[in-house]
Amino acid sequence: MSLKDVIIKERLPRHIAVIMDGNGRWAKKQGNARIFGHKNAMKAVRDVCEACAELGVDYLTLYAFSTENWNRPKMEVMGLMDLLVSAINTETDTLIKNNIRLNAIGRLTDLPEKVLVNLKDAIDRTKDNTGLTLTLALSYSSKVELVEAVQSVARDIEAGKISADSIDASVISDHLYTRGMPDPDLLIRTSGEFRISNFMLWQLAYSELYFTPILWPDFDKEELYKAIVDYQQRERRFGMTSEQIG
Ligand code: FPP
Repeated sequence: MSLKDVIIKERLPRHIAVIMDGNGRWAKKQGNARIFGHKNAMKAVRDVCEACAELGVDYLTLYAFSTENWNRPKMEVMGLMDLLVSAINTETDTLIKNNIRLNAIGRLTDLPEKVLVNLKDAIDRTKDNTGLTLTLALSYSSKVELVEAVQSVARDIEAGKISADSIDASVISDHLYTRGMPDPDLLIRTSGEFRISNFMLWQLAYSELYFTPILWPDFDKEELYKAIVDYQQRERRFGMTSEQIG
């Protein structure tokens, strides 16, 4: 039996965010170079996208590369950038076929030209799709995102567009890279690490967190179903009492 049959369709998380961790350890366990782990990560990426699209999840956000990841050995960074280019090129037709809209958040201008050009092209080619929105977090740092949001709000004040007193949570949300997207309902992190690692600090305020020891290249559809079933067994109170949400 698949756990897919246990999922309550009416209570799906609308937005799932994933910290895909453990590629390096997965490769090392087999005596291979780290990049081998990243290459094998693509099957898990495909599986999770397909499962989300099939289930009817609206948003899937994948933490693919952090600003801190630029400090990794040059060979690994170059390998990851090449992998991104080839993934975008080989998968865009599949995205179109599956009505998936590609999106990206982060300091995209940090990316090498070839990644940026291919990424923009794929985003443009999928922009009219109406199914799952797949967002890649690339050169992403939540603290940088918040700093840029504050700068942007400050500029709006300087320009007389808004007053300091009118700033509320929705103003901040509207200045983040994720503007227009609902906050994640469920955050999944693989590889047994219990950290947020500078990922969507504002947006994860009320998300349910799911940690699994599975290394990312071993994550598959069934593992995703397991996370969703776990999520559906939780009571989301948003600071209220059980009786209030009854
Ligand atoms: C974490 O494992 C993984 C990454 C930093 C990179 C993940 C990116 C990809 C698989 C490319 C994704 C491409 C698309 C198109 C979504 P790690 O290297 O930190 O593993 P470790 O903790 O075991 O060292």
